[in-house]
Amino acid sequence: MNAGKDSQATAKVPVHVAIIMDGNGRWAQARGLDRSEGHVEGVNTVRRITEAASEAGVKYLTLYAFSTENWKRPQAEVDALMHLIGIAIERETPDLIKNNVRLTMIGDVERMPAEALERLRGCIAKTSHCTGLTLNLALSYSARWEIVDAVGRISADVKAGKLDAAEIDDATVARYLTTAGIPDPDLLIRTGGDTRVSNFLLWQIAYTELFFTPVYWPDFSKQDFFDAIAGFGNRERRFGLTGEQVRHAESSPENPRIGE
Ligand code: FPP
Repeated sequence: MNAGKDSQATAKVPVHVAIIMDGNGRWAQARGLDRSEGHVEGVNTVRRITEAASEAGVKYLTLYAFSTENWKRPQAEVDALMHLIGIAIERETPDLIKNNVRLTMIGDVERMPAEALERLRGCIAKTSHCTGLTLNLALSYSARWEIVDAVGRISADVKAGKLDAAEIDDATVARYLTTAGIPDPDLLIRTGGDTRVSNFLLWQIAYTELFFTPVYWPDFSKQDFFDAIAGFGNRERRFGLTGEQVRHAESSPENPRIGE
């Protein structure tokens, strides 16, 4: 990974970018290929966009790689995807280390086949010392699953006397989510033409800027990513305040990121 910074025209780089990688199947079908070929090509895009995010100085990149709902796809496609994810992660581990990228994952991952899970856990362990980009894979993930899971654990802790129900606030809930410790996404990108958020990070995207593109994930280029980031840099995020309040807070040294 080298500079490549000239193609990014923004001073404000998002700290956390989340991506719904959509359009693999349609990309393949448009070429008369099997849907799984789209996923294979999609892995190349994962590599490319991880590099781009690193080059741009993004700190967290969360990719929606497999949703809770995706378990209902034809078994052959699920098996192929799980195998592909495991293989790709194992193959890319040396490069992730070389580029100082730390792998993490969120989701109901115990549902994943043992082989893929083992490869993912191996990579997480081997990259745990990396301090550059955090590549966070959402696997067997859905936001409603995550929120239900958090509510269950919060209730258990209240019952056990570890948590006072009267003191539960936004920050408490955030601590029980799978993304605890990671700042909320600044920018959410969805490829593939649909304009919905499909049960992804519903709590965390309360103030996130949304960017939708018709480009299928296998075709999504570094320049497309840099353009999305540049567009983000030009938007004013008000977090419910007035534009004047935001500009005042931004010029104050104590408050570089309002609302956090
Ligand atoms: C959506 O396209 C994509 C997925 C369900 C899987 C995405 C997974 C990858 C690209 C592999 C990730 C690999 C690693 C190593 C993280 P779709 O099949 O829904 O496409 P369609 O909407 O055109 O049918």
